[in-house]
Amino acid sequence: MCGIFGYVGKRSDAGKLVVEGLKNLEYRGYDSWGVACKTTKGTIIKKDTGKISAVNADDFAHGCSLAIAHTRWATHGGVTAANSHPHTNADGSIVVVHNGIIENYQELRKELVAKGHTFLSETDTEIIPHVIEEEMKTTSDFASAVRNACTKFEGRYGILAFHKTSDILVATRTGSPLIVGVSKEDGYFIASDIPAFMEHTKVVQYLDDGEMVVTDGKSILFTDLITGEEKPKREIEITWSVEQAQKGEYAHFMLKEIMEQKDSIARAVNQDDEQIRVIADAIANASGTFLVGCGTAHKACMAAEYFFSVVAEHHVNVTSAGEFKVHHHFLKPESLVIVVSQSGETADVLEAMNIAKAKGSKVLAIVNSEGSTIHREADYTLLINAGPERAVASTKALTGQMAVLLMIAYAMNDKLHDGKTLLLETAAQINDMLNPRYVNHIESLADKIQTHENIYIIGKSWNFPMALESAIKIQEVSYIHAEGFAGGELKHGPIALIEEGTPCITLAGNDEVTQDIISNTIEIKSRGAMTIGIAPENNEAYEEWIKVPDAGAAQAIMNIIPIQVLSYFLAVKRGMDPDMPRNLAKSVTVK
Ligand code: AGP
Repeated sequence: MCGIFGYVGKRSDAGKLVVEGLKNLEYRGYDSWGVACKTTKGTIIKKDTGKISAVNADDFAHGCSLAIAHTRWATHGGVTAANSHPHTNADGSIVVVHNGIIENYQELRKELVAKGHTFLSETDTEIIPHVIEEEMKTTSDFASAVRNACTKFEGRYGILAFHKTSDILVATRTGSPLIVGVSKEDGYFIASDIPAFMEHTKVVQYLDDGEMVVTDGKSILFTDLITGEEKPKREIEITWSVEQAQKGEYAHFMLKEIMEQKDSIARAVNQDDEQIRVIADAIANASGTFLVGCGTAHKACMAAEYFFSVVAEHHVNVTSAGEFKVHHHFLKPESLVIVVSQSGETADVLEAMNIAKAKGSKVLAIVNSEGSTIHREADYTLLINAGPERAVASTKALTGQMAVLLMIAYAMNDKLHDGKTLLLETAAQINDMLNPRYVNHIESLADKIQTHENIYIIGKSWNFPMALESAIKIQEVSYIHAEGFAGGELKHGPIALIEEGTPCITLAGNDEVTQDIISNTIEIKSRGAMTIGIAPENNEAYEEWIKVPDAGAAQAIMNIIPIQVLSYFLAVKRGMDPDMPRNLAKSVTVK
C-alpha cells in the first residue's frame, strides 16, 4: 500500500523525474515521502512526512541518472521522517525503498543487532539494506547480494535498491506489484503502477512474483529470484492514455470517476458475447460458485447474489476475501471461484485465489487493472475496462463489476442480449441523470445533512448490498459514521439508533420488495428520522426525494450513483480530500 518508483538511464534529471512520477502514485499512500539520488558526489537522500504532491521536483534537478523514490502508507512504525523511506545501511552505501511487509523482520533485526548493526527507525524495511550488507560479505556482486538477502525475507514485498559503487538498479517482487517502463531514448523505469512513468513511455514489461530485474539503463535482465534463471519478457503497449489518468476539469479524481460512469458502464458491457456465455455455462455447471472480494468489490459480489437469484434463479455463494480462508473445506476441483477486484492486487483476494487454485478449483477474475497480479494469475479474466480508478473511493469500478455480473446472470438465462440492452439503457439514463441541476440538488442535500455524525441507509434485495456500499462511501471520504441495514432488520435492533432528525436514506426500485422498504421507511419516520428516498417514485414516507430512473434488475447500479455524488459533497463540505482519505490507501496489498 505504498508507491515506489525508480529510474536509471541517459537522463541527468533522474531525481526530478522520480518525484514528478511519484506524484501519480500518491493515491497508494500519502503519509510521507522520500527520494534518493545517486550523483557523482555521492547519494543525496531527502525524506519527510507529508504528501509528495507538496514537494517541489525542481529541488531535485541536480545531475543524477539513477534515483529511487517512495510514498508511504504506514504499516510498521508511525508517520515520522525517520520511518520514511528510503532506508540505508549504516554507511549509506546501500539504498532501498520497499512496498509490502517483511513479516519476519523482528527476528532478522535481532540477529543483525547481535552482529553490531544499529537502526534508526521502527520500520520492517530498514532491515533490508542491513541484510544485503551482510550478504555482500560473501559476494561483491550487488544483485547477487540482493538475491541472497531475499531468501531470508518472509512476507510480501516489492523492493528497489542500488549500491553507491554500481550504476545498476535492482528490483525484486514477491506479492507487491512492480512494472517496468521501457524507453529506448531514456532508459528504464520501475514502479508500483504505470501512471508513474506513462508520460515517458507506454511500453511495459511485467515483473512477476518471485522474480528480480536488474538494469543499468541500457539493458535489462529479468531472472528467477531463487534460481537466477533468465525470464524473458514481452514488451506490451498499454492502451489507456495519460489524460485518462489525470483529473481533467474536475477538482478531484472521485468526481471525475463518478461522472465517467456514463461511459465506463458501456465499456464494461462491451464484452465478447461468446466469452460471457462460456462463463455463464461454467457457473451453471460448477459444483458451487463462490463470489469473493473485499470492501466495495465485496458489495458488488453481494448484489450479484441477488442478480443470479432473481434473473437466473441460480444460487451462488458470496464471501468477503478475508473470510474465504475457511471455505477451502467446501472447495472441490469442480468448484468455481470468481474473484472481483479493481486493483487486482488486494492481498486477501490474492490469498483467496491461491487457496482456490491449491484445491484445484478454477478461478475467474473480474478486474479493472490490466496486467495486475490477479489478472495474470487467474485461470480466466474479464476486464471491466473502467480505465484508471485513482480515487481511493471505488465508484466506476463498482458499477463496472456489477454490470459484468448482471450480464452474466442474464446470459445464464439465455437472455444476454436483453441484459446488454438494459445495461446500455441504464448507462444512457445515468448520462442524462448526471446533469448540473441534478448534481446541485444532491449537493444541497449534502449541505443539509453534513453536520450529522450518524447517517443510516436501508435497502432490500439488491439494494441491501448497496445500503452497505453507501455506508462505505460515506464513511471513507466524509468520516461520518454511516451504517447500512437490510430494511427488514431495523425492528430487530438498529431502529433503537434513530433519533429526532437522524438522516436515514432508503434505496428502492419498482419491484416486489418496494412496499416492504416503504413500510420500513415509515417506521423510522415515525421515530423522528429525516427520511431521504432514492427511488423512481416519490412517496409521502420521504421527507426528501432523489429521483432515479426505474432500472429494473439494474436498479442497484442506478441507485448507488446519487449516493456516490452525495458522499463526495459530504467530504468536500466537511473539508476533507475525497481522493486521499485518512488511514486508507487505494490498493490494500498487505493482509
Ligand atoms: C472502496 O471504496 C474502498 N476503497 C475499498 O473497500 C476497496 O473496494 C477494497 O479495498 C477492494 O479493493 P480492490 O477492488 O482493488 O480489490
